[in-house]
Amino acid sequence: MAFLADALSRVKPSATIAVSQKARELKSQGRDVIGLGAGEPDFDTPDNVKKAAIEAINRGETKYTPVSGIQPLREAIAAKFKRENNLDYDWKQTIVATGGKQVLFNAMMATLNAGDEVVIPSPYWVSYPEMVSICGGTPVAAETSIENGFKLTAEALEKAITPKTKWLIMNSPSNPSGAAYTAEELKALADVLLAHPNVWVLTDDMYEHLTYGDFRFHTIAEVEPKLYERTLTMNGVSKAYAMTGWRIGYAAGPLELIKAMDMIQGQQTSGACSIAQWAAVEALNGPQDFVARNKAIFQGRRDLVVSMLNQARGIKCPVPEGAFYVYPSCAELIGKSAPSGRTIETDEDFVSELLEAEGVAVVHGSAFGLGPNFRISYATSEALLEEACNRIQRFTASLK
Ligand SMILES: Cc1ncc(COP(=O)(O)O)c(C=O)c1O
Repeated sequence: MAFLADALSRVKPSATIAVSQKARELKSQGRDVIGLGAGEPDFDTPDNVKKAAIEAINRGETKYTPVSGIQPLREAIAAKFKRENNLDYDWKQTIVATGGKQVLFNAMMATLNAGDEVVIPSPYWVSYPEMVSICGGTPVAAETSIENGFKLTAEALEKAITPKTKWLIMNSPSNPSGAAYTAEELKALADVLLAHPNVWVLTDDMYEHLTYGDFRFHTIAEVEPKLYERTLTMNGVSKAYAMTGWRIGYAAGPLELIKAMDMIQGQQTSGACSIAQWAAVEALNGPQDFVARNKAIFQGRRDLVVSMLNQARGIKCPVPEGAFYVYPSCAELIGKSAPSGRTIETDEDFVSELLEAEGVAVVHGSAFGLGPNFRISYATSEALLEEACNRIQRFTASLK
């Protein structure tokens, strides 16, 4: 009898964590490495949020909370959805969890039976297919293309849906591509879903506040209210308020689903950290100038990185609408020979030779289900980004 659960055989370790680990190892050996693998803002949590947490500790808000979260936070979440997304949710239709990750996991745990399919546009965030697999479902990748700006088309969605499809997972702006859908693009997908009444939508809007230029963020239940009854709208404070370590994510949706997720969470972690929940109340209800300021900084970095990558030989980098990632193609460099003498056959070879030759750590696209590409996280200073892009230019110029 095997000791480890069968479910583990269906799961891959996170490629993004593996890259960060490799970069750390090389650094500890004294190598000069620039890590562009991490998916978290390099800013500190705003002071008003930290202060709210300290005040919560001093008030003695240090006990178990209700499983789905403290009422003031759930009310703040309902108010946020109304204010920013024009979505009407009662606070009882909301749930708070230990990071956005737990919201997603528990939604899958609460709904998937063996054989249920979940459509995931690729490139996708590495955890979606793994979570689906752990929960016994079958991830179904629906490919996008660089020509379509890495966005799922109505045709590709229609093709991916079968009688076994339970969910479509949407993520706009996207990790890893930064692609974000306009209202028209969402409406085209919603029209397909209207013809498939059994398919639910989980929309991961984690990067909502990070969109650039005159792009305006929309979420699917807002664009097509007929989908409201089968949409779980998920979000969190991690990326928008530089609160990755506080571990607060949230969602709103039909009451029956929220109750099922509450039941699972009640047998698992129970309520999220009480202090972090009070901090999140301040993040959502307090001044929002932090968000606008960082958005402007990220936009400058995006423009720098896109421009420098497009000057690198053989690299094609579309301009993403949001998040803090770019997802350039290295297709033209496949088949070339690296300074080590090895031939670059895949995007995984490309990133490993780049790390070896120039000490720049990025993540290969095939880990996100679409390549040959690579993901750069530009959540780091302009000076480091400029240096990293110079090294990438030098590396691609050296390929024979
Ligand atoms: C698309 C996406 N969803 C969810 C998460 C998880 O967020 P959290 O840190 O709140 O668990 C991440 C984090 O990298 C992400 O990129």
